[in-house]
Amino acid sequence: MARINEHYRKLQAGYLFPEISRRVAAFGSANPNAPIIRLGIGDVTLPLAPAVVEALHAAVDEMASAEGFRGYGPENGYDFLLDAIREHDFASRGVSIEPNEIFVSDGSKQDSGNIQEIFGTDCTLLVTDPVYPVYVDTNVMAGRTGDGDENGRYAGIRYLPATEENGFTPPPPSDRVDLAYLCSPNNPTGAVMDRAGLTAWVDWARANDAILIFDAAYDAFIQDPALPRSIYEIEGARDCAIEMRSFSKRAGFTGVRCAYTVIPAECSGTTASGERVPLRELWARRHATKFNSVPYVIQRAAAAVFSSDGRKQTAEQVSFYMENARRVRQGLGDAGFTVFAGEHAPYIWMRTPDGLSSWEFFDRLLNETNVVGTPGSGFGPSGEGYFRISAFNSRENVDEAVTRIRDAFGS
Ligand code: MLT
Repeated sequence: MARINEHYRKLQAGYLFPEISRRVAAFGSANPNAPIIRLGIGDVTLPLAPAVVEALHAAVDEMASAEGFRGYGPENGYDFLLDAIREHDFASRGVSIEPNEIFVSDGSKQDSGNIQEIFGTDCTLLVTDPVYPVYVDTNVMAGRTGDGDENGRYAGIRYLPATEENGFTPPPPSDRVDLAYLCSPNNPTGAVMDRAGLTAWVDWARANDAILIFDAAYDAFIQDPALPRSIYEIEGARDCAIEMRSFSKRAGFTGVRCAYTVIPAECSGTTASGERVPLRELWARRHATKFNSVPYVIQRAAAAVFSSDGRKQTAEQVSFYMENARRVRQGLGDAGFTVFAGEHAPYIWMRTPDGLSSWEFFDRLLNETNVVGTPGSGFGPSGEGYFRISAFNSRENVDEAVTRIRDAFGS
């Protein structure tokens, strides 16, 4: 008899977004003519940028010729993409990252979920709360936690509440843990960490020999050039931080799939006997064993994001979504809602009206306005009483959703 991994049984019944889809599908079947507007999952809606499409076509044509055909690629990514990442995402901001510190992958969801595999099962963990559920669930699956309580908090995970009082960017704790997950711009709260905030975390990690797992999947949405985009813009971060970046939201790749993780040479952990081991070596070993890299055509498409046309076209896409975010923020703010974020992230975080719980508001919004959002409590107990609205949709739908929400719930 094959025993199952019983840690899976500790998980909440379903992952958040499938649960939302289930409720929306049930509503849609019962109300087939309802004009549903989806501002729930943060999924891009604009078509791929022309420079990306051109690169995809050209790469397919290459693969169709005997000379241009490629089979397995280098595990960590083709040099043309590693070089483009190094130059445009790091060197352009004064950060030095070597190509052999970059690992191209098929998504930051996977990377942020898989990275825990290279750490001991007895490592202590910290997340900010509310939190992207992948960080928590993958550690539960790996047996690094105890059971969940009635609020969805797992024993063995340290939750740092992200609240209105701390601007949804909690400072580091006064004691130590081994691994801390940070996400900035934050999913779900949309809050962004400034230089001082990130420096406090880097200093804490170095003082405590901790590792920061820094998810920067939304860095392209930062509007203020003075705000750090990469944790490596902070002195000392090379010693203690792993960073994840994605093409999903910045360039419409949610269905194309390309991302990368950076592990600097200096970043290390210890064995039980105290020997220091570079984390990069462990991740490289994992990558080589469990992954055969991203398809050549997709890596060509990702590299095209850094071409001069690609940069311009994808920046226009980001601006389009950020204008949506501005309209949601302003429209709902003017209607009397308490709204946050949406300035450096494609998410608006709002208080639910009339003291409704997050799921109560979700259900009422769906039923009364046919608008779908994401209940804050789905991201953790401190999200209760909050709600996330995504800016990824057409202008018409976003404006229409704001009007409907205002008319149904505004003051
Ligand atoms: C979200 O809506 O939180 C994201 O789309 C989830 C993801 O990127 O996996």
